[in-house]
Amino acid sequence: MLKNQKILLIGGTGFVGRHLARVLVEGGAHVTIPTRRYEKNRDVTMLPCVTLIEADINDPGVLEQLATGADAVINLVGVLHSDPGLPYGKQFAAAHVELPKKIVAACQATSVKRLLHMSALHAGQKAPSEYLRSKADGEAVITGSGLITTIFRPSVIFGARDAFINTFAKLLRAFPIMPLGCASARFQPVAVDDVAHAFAQALTNPAMEGQAYDLCGPKVYTLKEIVEYTGNVIGYPRRVIPLSEHMAYFQAALLSLLPNPPMSADNIRSMQIDSVCSSNCQVPSGWNPQPLEAVAPLYLLDSGDAAQFAEYRSRAGR
Ligand SMILES: NC(=O)c1ccc[n+]([C@@H]2O[C@H](COP(=O)([O-])OP(=O)(O)OC[C@H]3O[C@@H](n4cnc5c(N)ncnc54)[C@H](OP(=O)(O)O)[C@@H]3O)[C@@H](O)[C@H]2O)c1
Repeated sequence: MLKNQKILLIGGTGFVGRHLARVLVEGGAHVTIPTRRYEKNRDVTMLPCVTLIEADINDPGVLEQLATGADAVINLVGVLHSDPGLPYGKQFAAAHVELPKKIVAACQATSVKRLLHMSALHAGQKAPSEYLRSKADGEAVITGSGLITTIFRPSVIFGARDAFINTFAKLLRAFPIMPLGCASARFQPVAVDDVAHAFAQALTNPAMEGQAYDLCGPKVYTLKEIVEYTGNVIGYPRRVIPLSEHMAYFQAALLSLLPNPPMSADNIRSMQIDSVCSSNCQVPSGWNPQPLEAVAPLYLLDSGDAAQFAEYRSRAGR
């Protein structure tokens, strides 16, 4: 039962974290979310039974303090960009490997036994991208911890406030044509609500202890199909022009000059492996994921107050 469980939700202010926080409080849990920027994320406290705490979880002793008394810890922290390095750059190392080590140490020091961890589909030590290699080393930290762990590895996640389909929607509204790198890369997008419910299920279903799950939606699309679909939904059916690999890297180099780049060279390398689940991958029991078409129009076309304020906040960098 989730009711009255005390959950420390690390990374709970992000896209997945906000959805998961809602699912957890709907189940009756009490959720503590640390953030580096309280003011920016203050709206999370609109959810009942959520405590938002400004803290730098990398500081010594902070995670121990936060984990004390928790029934479970969930780690969602992830970054998409890093300085380059081998096998991965320092920001990937810090967020995906060193932080999990600190979280494991904090759980051990405070006798928290249950740890849920977010990885990524096809994380692997020999994967082509730094992101996926660092996620694999993070998984190894979690599985070697001696704690009762569950790991989730989703394909790309969609839902209200996602940074994937919403970014394409913005670009499609702004530009008359859409030059697109990795247009034929394949994805099996999964709904954020389904991902959030899988995490919540793991907190109440002992059969999910010690397991790792690949999470994919019901259908495979190329990136080009996703962009074209997004254009059709929002009423901007732009022409999508696939770029050669060389041009895709050039485009990523230009975009990396932006403050929040939508694409990097490392992202392109991640897309060398199709983000698609194998037919015999392990999924949570009762897994029945929602199709993109049932969910995306609801938030892409949402022009209500909440969506407008979210848009203003994002434009203001807040
Ligand atoms: N979104 C996807 O399509 C997708 C697909 C597969 C896997 N994943 C994985 O799912 C997880 C959640 O993704 P998301 O899209 O929700 O990410 P997000 O929106 O970027 O949120 C990231 C969260 O991590 C925290 N964070 C980031 N860097 C941190 C750092 N250096 N120290 C402390 N906290 C830090 C942020 O907290 P504050 O800024 O509030 O401190 C924020 O709450 C990540 O691990 C990601 O790799 C995502």
